[in-house]
Amino acid sequence: MGRLNGKIAVVTGAADGIGHAIAEAMAREGAHVFASDIADAKGEAFAAGLRSQGLAADYVHCDVAVEADIRNLIETAVKKGGRLDVLVNNAAISIGGMPVYEMTDEQWHRLIAVNLTSVFRGCKFALPHMIGQKSGSIINLASAQGHIGLDGWTAYAGAKGAIHSMTRQMAVEFGPHNVRVNSISPGTIATPMNDQVIAELGEHIARAWVKMHPLGRIGRPSEIAEAAVYLASDAAGFTTGTDLRVDGGLTAAPRFVPDLV
Ligand SMILES: NC(=O)c1ccc[n+]([C@@H]2O[C@H](COP(=O)([O-])OP(=O)(O)OC[C@H]3O[C@@H](n4cnc5c(N)ncnc54)[C@H](O)[C@@H]3O)[C@@H](O)[C@H]2O)c1
Repeated sequence: MGRLNGKIAVVTGAADGIGHAIAEAMAREGAHVFASDIADAKGEAFAAGLRSQGLAADYVHCDVAVEADIRNLIETAVKKGGRLDVLVNNAAISIGGMPVYEMTDEQWHRLIAVNLTSVFRGCKFALPHMIGQKSGSIINLASAQGHIGLDGWTAYAGAKGAIHSMTRQMAVEFGPHNVRVNSISPGTIATPMNDQVIAELGEHIARAWVKMHPLGRIGRPSEIAEAAVYLASDAAGFTTGTDLRVDGGLTAAPRFVPDLV
């Protein structure tokens, strides 16, 4: 018996990285997963792979920076699944590694559209369904960087900090409808997003990441997926408005790493 048997779950940015791991874990736990992304070939192959293992999965194209795409994603899941139990607002991009005064307005607006406005829109379209059925779990992917500072990531951290406070706000507002809203703040996780950061900033950054985490390593996408499955499940029925830090201790003991550069 899976922990998410019979639940209808939507995951954004599910073709790769953390979203991929979350969608797969949720499907293995019995959910019917609507995986979405802009990487359509990868996403289609992913959903087909899950179906070939007897799991319930569909792929829906959704650019989270496009309002109509998010509306379509939610409506498709509700139409096919008959309800909506779980929304994972996961998709995001990393634009940073530069002082804020070097960031262009265009970069700022792009980052906010993909990383923050997407969360607003996902919730906006999902909430009426969840309120109507008097249950639901929204899981927003935030970041350790919403809690602590790191050179060069002002805009990214700003969006993640906003996700923390929007999560608390919605938990309070929609708790009376039995809709739970939580966030997960990962530490550094081995995903294509971080491969890109290493490619842009250099290998030394990967060594620094390991040192910054008290557990002495970076995390695996499956470790974030495990937290998401918990928050989506009935086992977390009394958990709302929380930010679950899955960060190897990063934010418990921010470390000064003198040989960072
Ligand atoms: N990797 C980390 O160390 C880390 C740490 C903290 C928080 N996070 C957060 O976890 C989430 C997932 O990060 P990740 O590392 O797996 O990222 P990733 O870049 O490895 O994967 C992101 C996925 O989102 C998709 N995507 C990108 N732009 C999109 C768009 N406009 N619309 C829809 N999909 C889009 C990509 O195609 C990809 O499949 C993000 O919210 C990220 O901010 C990641």
